[in-house]
Amino acid sequence: MRQMIFIFSAIFMLSVLFHACQQAPQNAEESWEAAWLGDSKQEVIDNIENQFQGFSRAMVETGYRYQELYWAGQDENWEYAEYQREHIEEALEDGFVRRPDREASSQQFMSVALPEMEQVIADGDQDAFLESYTRLTASCNTCHAMEEVAFMVVKIPENRTTVIHF
Ligand code: HEC
Repeated sequence: MRQMIFIFSAIFMLSVLFHACQQAPQNAEESWEAAWLGDSKQEVIDNIENQFQGFSRAMVETGYRYQELYWAGQDENWEYAEYQREHIEEALEDGFVRRPDREASSQQFMSVALPEMEQVIADGDQDAFLESYTRLTASCNTCHAMEEVAFMVVKIPENRTTVIHF
């Protein structure tokens, strides 16, 4: 009988031990592999930041969306116009995450020109849209002057290259 108790308690102890081992926190470093981003975590982070690029990327996107916005207004395709207006706002906001120093010069553009455009689009008034678009354009150029890229003059598009037609 004593032997039996010993064997049972030994089995019990072993199973407790087994469970404890299984639930032990896994402290081992998670293994990872990058095809081209680098060998150390710092290298990977640096390369990702470089690949995201700075403010010019936001501007290339803004240039495209600014043109699409114009032709959307010409088509009175107000849903597409609002889509592009919103994406301009997002492109700039993402740009400021990467280059916070640029944000101050965009004050007028972000808090006056874009909200005004949003209202005009919601009203679906084409004459008001054209006036608002002219003010928006001036606001692009104000920021370019403040950011010392005055040689980048934004002008209202003349030729349509868009593939989206209404
Ligand atoms: C923060 C203020 C700011 C606002 C607002 C702004 N821009 Fe820019 N833009 C810049 C800066 C700064 C550059 C130069 C970027 C660089 O040197 O990395 C630039 C560059 C550009 C470029 C050249 C991008 C390239 O590399 O080819 C285009 C196109 C452009 N902007 C269009 C616009 C349009 C269109 C608007 C308005 C809808 C606008 N921008 C509003 C600051 C601004």
